[in-house]
Amino acid sequence: MRLSAVAPLAIVLAAAVLAVLGYLSLRQWQATSELLFRQQSREMATMAAEKVRMVLNQMEDEIVARLRAAVGRPGFTPDALPAFLADAPLVGRLYLFDRRGHLLFPAAFTDRDAAAIAAIPGAIPESFWEREGRMRLGVGGETILATVLKTAAGAPVLAAFSRDPEVLARDIIARTLGPRAGQSFVAVIDEQGRPVYSPEPLAGAERVVIVSLGAELPSWRVALYQPAGLSPREAARRQITLFTAAFGLLLLVIVGGLAATWRLVRRETQIARLKSDFVANVSHDLKTPLSLIRMFGETLEMGRVTDDRQRQEYYRVITRESERLSRLIDNVLDFSRIDGGRRTYDIVPTAVEPLVRDTLEAFDYVLRQRGFALTVRIDPGLHDAPLDGGAVAQALANLIDNAIKYSADRKSVAVEARGEAGRLALSVADEGIGIPRVEQARIFEKFYRVGRSDTQGRRGSGVGLALVRHVVEAHGGRVTVESEPGRGSRFTLWFPLGTRRATA
Ligand SMILES: Nc1ncnc2c1ncn2[C@@H]1O[C@H](COP(=O)(O)OP(=O)(O)O)[C@@H](O)[C@H]1O
Ligand SMILES: [Mg+2]
Repeated sequence: MRLSAVAPLAIVLAAAVLAVLGYLSLRQWQATSELLFRQQSREMATMAAEKVRMVLNQMEDEIVARLRAAVGRPGFTPDALPAFLADAPLVGRLYLFDRRGHLLFPAAFTDRDAAAIAAIPGAIPESFWEREGRMRLGVGGETILATVLKTAAGAPVLAAFSRDPEVLARDIIARTLGPRAGQSFVAVIDEQGRPVYSPEPLAGAERVVIVSLGAELPSWRVALYQPAGLSPREAARRQITLFTAAFGLLLLVIVGGLAATWRLVRRETQIARLKSDFVANVSHDLKTPLSLIRMFGETLEMGRVTDDRQRQEYYRVITRESERLSRLIDNVLDFSRIDGGRRTYDIVPTAVEPLVRDTLEAFDYVLRQRGFALTVRIDPGLHDAPLDGGAVAQALANLIDNAIKYSADRKSVAVEARGEAGRLALSVADEGIGIPRVEQARIFEKFYRVGRSDTQGRRGSGVGLALVRHVVEAHGGRVTVESEPGRGSRFTLWFPLGTRRATA
């Protein structure tokens, strides 16, 4: 693995570890807060149960005290009890027995009463008659409070009473617990979980804890509820989801950033490599004509060439190679001007035919020497076109140079100038090696060379077509390429014919 790949991997790994740690700490926090919430809820419910028991005991104490007073009044008869009952709504049913367990009150009773009446005296231990205590009995699902009272004459009577469940719920529990405060609320439920009292509908609410109401109300319980959607458990869950989403997003951003950086770095390395190729290629390109000039110059200097025609030929080689040298240097200089945004164009009406012919002249010798067939077709009806003559000649020269350089067995170059749909089309076609379709868009990038063109053994700087494109685009035109590998290429420069001035 390369070092450059290790760093982003480490970052992603660190982010992932951080995410896991964050998640674990959130889970921990959730567990702790849940525990705390449960504790608080239990305390609240216990307090509520305590309060209900206290109030109930107080009320019952009061009832017993009043009953004791009524029974202890001289001349007491059970006939006084209905009046007492009317004033003690909490009392459901009241029974009075004498020492032998005979019923003194009520005079008339129902079947339910009968069961209680039969059960109560038997449930009282003998010793209880001697005390003035109280005792709770569970009879037929009801809680009955029993106590021994004394008449004015000193005779013991057993009083036992049940509670009216409605009054109990309405007057004691509802009043004691009151309306809900805060988010959670306390309700009292029976054995089946049905609400005896609740300040809110229980449907949808979450039951958090249940506590008993003790011996006073053995079949009822206090329960603490959390309304739907408000439970802290859900809030914690929401928080965790939010956190997970946020962290996921963060991770995504990190990965995206790394990918972008990686691409940028890769591109930069590519450019750096292309640049170093460029320097090597340019140096080599300059060396070839220079060594030719030197060789022919030295030969002439030594005076060994006696034949006039041959001497003329040598001079021509020297001139031609210097021209090529100038062209190469101009190309690099102009490219560097373009790259620095400093190249300007002087676009004036220019005759097309002389421009093309002059440019071709410079290649005359090479073409002939290498056995190229040259075809030139110039539309005779062409008018002057708004061009920067020098720049367009340079672009054309680059295309011709490429056509020669990238030809193999079939050596032919066709240059054409014609007007088409209000545009001037200058094209250079060859029957050379061609360009793969996927490369056709890239060859116009600076320094770009197909397969770095090394495989084809052809030297070049890779800036020629970049320069060509810049020149046509500065004229408001464009360059197109049609090419097929192995069959040849045709490059066409399209210039608009309307007058136009442009600079780089
Ligand atoms: N006529 C052509 N036939 C085949 N390939 C070409 C032709 N012209 C250009 N190319 C490809 O496009 C690349 C870029 O061309 P250019 O910018 O002129 O750079 P250079 O000629 O210095 O390599 C060349 O390296 C070559 O691979
Ligand atoms: Mg070139």
